[in-house]
Amino acid sequence: MTYAALTGWGKCLPPAILSNDDLSTFLDTTDEWISTRTGMKARRISHVGSIELATVASARALACAGLDPGEVDLIVYGSCSGEEQIPNSASGVQVALGARRAGAMDVNTACTSFLYGLTSAAGMIRSGTIRNALVVGVEVISLGMDWSNRNVAVLFGDGAAAVVLQASDQEEGLLGSVLGCDAEARGILRVRGLGCGWAHRGIPLGDTLWDFDGQEIFKRAVKAMSAASVEVLARCGVAPEQVDLVVPHQANLRIIEAVAKYARVPMEKVFLTVQKYGNMSAATVPVALVEAVESGRIQAGSLVLMPAFGGGLTWCAHLLRWGSRVAPLAASGRELPPCDRTALELVNAIRGDQDPHGRSREGLAPWAYAETRGTAVPAEP
Ligand code: UT7
Repeated sequence: MTYAALTGWGKCLPPAILSNDDLSTFLDTTDEWISTRTGMKARRISHVGSIELATVASARALACAGLDPGEVDLIVYGSCSGEEQIPNSASGVQVALGARRAGAMDVNTACTSFLYGLTSAAGMIRSGTIRNALVVGVEVISLGMDWSNRNVAVLFGDGAAAVVLQASDQEEGLLGSVLGCDAEARGILRVRGLGCGWAHRGIPLGDTLWDFDGQEIFKRAVKAMSAASVEVLARCGVAPEQVDLVVPHQANLRIIEAVAKYARVPMEKVFLTVQKYGNMSAATVPVALVEAVESGRIQAGSLVLMPAFGGGLTWCAHLLRWGSRVAPLAASGRELPPCDRTALELVNAIRGDQDPHGRSREGLAPWAYAETRGTAVPAEP
């Protein structure tokens, strides 16, 4: 029997930190409201594109696994903020790493993209199609954010992390995953203006308006993440008390607390990053996973449960058995270029009619045109 062992891990967080107080300089919001309703205190804003964040995280994960880029069989790029529609973003990471023989695919299931990608890659390893894979979760949500909408603008942040999966005959790595989609409610989490279909409905590509029914998403997230957690544990024959750590998607501290309660896992066994990074969509779970092992919360043989939820409304839960190694084999020298602006300056640049990276807007991917122009929103067809 072949298993897909997790042998490398690495993260890349952009350095600029946006606080709740920064948000209240241009939104009708307060630190008190954001902290008590979501658990969030800060989030990161990227000064580089998502491919660059993903490449640094990937280089770190490969060094950690001791795997040369030239040996990678497959790169999976989990994200809903890929830089372009064509070419895909995984190919951008492939060329930046020099992973010449790797296949390269993007997976977009919004916040669950990393975990859906993990299931795909592990399945290919277990079937013998490939021997190893690099799976990335990355988002630069700040460029597609509607910064005039306090319902969503306070919730999200940017970041990236990656893991390496390799074929193993030990029973470790991804033991099970449950995937689902609550598609009847797909319209309650929608970004208008990203994707070719909007041009037909009178919204120029890149004018982003978020449909976001927070309360309804909240209820459905709790229900789906709880049910998926229970189901994956049952499928793997694991009792809740055998779980060593829960590394959940982190959209709201109150969602996480409710899921832990339903899944019958105490909060002491839940790893939290929501307070410092907010919701990084597809990057959330892998960043938390990397920080959990770096901080000693994951040990050799740990059983890790990872429930998640996102646009679609996709949901899932994964059960992972960590291998025998919790220390990287080597470190990568790859770093981001320095950032000479504060997070608030980066956001204000996106809010204004400016290119956030100081370049001419011509040549930027259309989706980077993030400002809301007050376009009338046509009714759903
Ligand atoms: O990644 C997966 C997708 N995302 C999620 O899973 C998020 C799920 N939803 C949530 O986390 C929560 O529903 C939110 C954090 C988005 C909202 O919290 P809530 O407790 O459900 O608040 P609410 O939507 O019921 O709004 C309560 C009040 C409203 O004012 P009124 O109508 O009571 O006067 C909102 O207008 O809070 C107001 N409000 C804000 N006030 C200050 C909404 N956003 C803000 C804000 N600052 N940023």
